[in-house]
Amino acid sequence: MAEGNISLIMEFMLLGFSDLPNLQGFLFGLFLIIYTGILIGNGLIIVITKVEPVLQTPMYFFLRNFSFLEICYTSVILPRILVNLWTQKINISFTACAAQFCAFFVMAITENFLLTVMAYDRYVAICKPLNYPLIMNHRVCFQLVFGSWTIGIPVMIGQTYHVFSLPFCDSNKLNHVFCDIPPLLKLACSDTSVIEFSVYVVAVLFVMIPFLLIIRSYVKIISTILKLPSNTGKYKAFSTCSSHLIVVILFFGSATITYSRPKSNNSGRTDKILSLLYTIVTPMFNPMIYSLRNKDIIDALKKLLQAKW
Ligand SMILES: *[C@@H]1O[C@H](CO)[C@@H](O)[C@H](O)[C@H]1NC(C)=O
Repeated sequence: MAEGNISLIMEFMLLGFSDLPNLQGFLFGLFLIIYTGILIGNGLIIVITKVEPVLQTPMYFFLRNFSFLEICYTSVILPRILVNLWTQKINISFTACAAQFCAFFVMAITENFLLTVMAYDRYVAICKPLNYPLIMNHRVCFQLVFGSWTIGIPVMIGQTYHVFSLPFCDSNKLNHVFCDIPPLLKLACSDTSVIEFSVYVVAVLFVMIPFLLIIRSYVKIISTILKLPSNTGKYKAFSTCSSHLIVVILFFGSATITYSRPKSNNSGRTDKILSLLYTIVTPMFNPMIYSLRNKDIIDALKKLLQAKW
């Protein structure tokens, strides 16, 4: 019987927030505001780092690409949630689910590596200022960004193939807001230990390694800054990397909270909210952090607004 059912699953039900029927309108409004904010905030960063002459440096080149990534990353998740809340249709085809899964994790990996590249950029700027223009030339910047976007693709295509060729037989109800690994593995009716192990290996390689490289950059940055003779010098050097440091802490902090909770006390609803936090927090706060803390960006924003009115 179970065997016969395997091929029947052509689509999944993304239950999403359907356990909160009274809050559908509220959640729709909330996510619409958040998504619009993410598009506007990151869109503004893309525009000003493109047009403002003062901001034509590697640091802002990376920031622009990072903001672009944040828009793509949230666009894999949020529009679908909005449509589901609006239409109350919760089915997602097998292919769409696989595509969402693959795109989401490719971009999550990109995010880790772009943050690493940005930390490396700050490391070179602060610890090797004389060689900075030489090391961070156009070609290197482009290669670093391109590498960050592509490094996860082959691995995640493999993982997606692996997860979506699991037999799903009893149910097609994903108690989640998007096609994430844990709810999919929960539905599979065969042994998932091999795939859980491979997910673990991928996480170590593509999360831990970038994270350790970021720590390494910051250890060197901070020890260099502490050796600077004047307090103004210290403050100036630190202010160029503090925004990035805050974004790093937000991103890895929310990732740790989401994915390192013990399995036993995972209740569906908390899980859903946490995994959304993980996808929403960094894209939402990234533009705010940079525009509140960075004088060049504030000036460029003012200029842009004055030019418009
Ligand atoms: C970011 O980098 C990727 C890969 O090199 C590229 O496809 C994309 O257009 C870039 N985006 C921006 C806004 O620079």
